[in-house]
Amino acid sequence: MGDLAGALGDGPEPGPLGEAPSALSFWDKDRALGRVVLSVDQIAARVAELGKAITADYADRPPLLVGVLKGAFIFLADIARQIQLPLELDFMAVSSYGRATKTSGVVRILKDLDIDLAGRHVIIVEDILDSGLTLSYLRNSLLARGPESLAVCSLLVKRAVEPRPNLEVAYVGFDIEPEFVVGYGLDVAERYRNLPDIRVYLAGEPE
Ligand code: IMP
Ligand code: MG
Repeated sequence: MGDLAGALGDGPEPGPLGEAPSALSFWDKDRALGRVVLSVDQIAARVAELGKAITADYADRPPLLVGVLKGAFIFLADIARQIQLPLELDFMAVSSYGRATKTSGVVRILKDLDIDLAGRHVIIVEDILDSGLTLSYLRNSLLARGPESLAVCSLLVKRAVEPRPNLEVAYVGFDIEPEFVVGYGLDVAERYRNLPDIRVYLAGEPE
């Protein structure tokens, strides 16, 4: 019988009480990351409030949550568990054509829904609303499928620097400054989705 700890190699140093070190210490060393915009605790508290509001608003009409992949995956997982209703879940994956086409508002559906929306009370769950083009496209696309009702829930809404489509967002987690942020599902070139809090990305927005 070998030494199990030794066999697993040099893991992270245990903390003073023997517990695992905080996951955040790893991220604190990353120089591309700036200040914490929203802490783990702030996010959790707000997600609980949003879940409570949705639970009250949809008590007599259980909702279908439509998560927009990939950015909303953590938010969706957390808010779904804060909604005390027999809800349904489905996913869509979309991709914008990048910054150059921002004005065209062209959004490609990479993965469509499995569930038929007819007669359902749909809530689109998004990570962030910036120009609003992604959500406005999604909203129109889902409205055309005959849901009984359609609402939008976005964890973050960036303060608008340019006029954006008139979009009613029934549930907003936080209004934030127009900075590029990562973490809690939000990425830059597929990285940082697993950062537990939300931080400014300092290295500039990717092309
Ligand atoms: P919009 O169409 O301009 O509103 O952009 C929405 C999409 O762009 C979001 O669903 C995100 O995937 C991405 N996005 C916008 N701002 C940020 C950010 O600050 N960090 C990470 N992704 C962002
Ligand atoms: Mg997104």
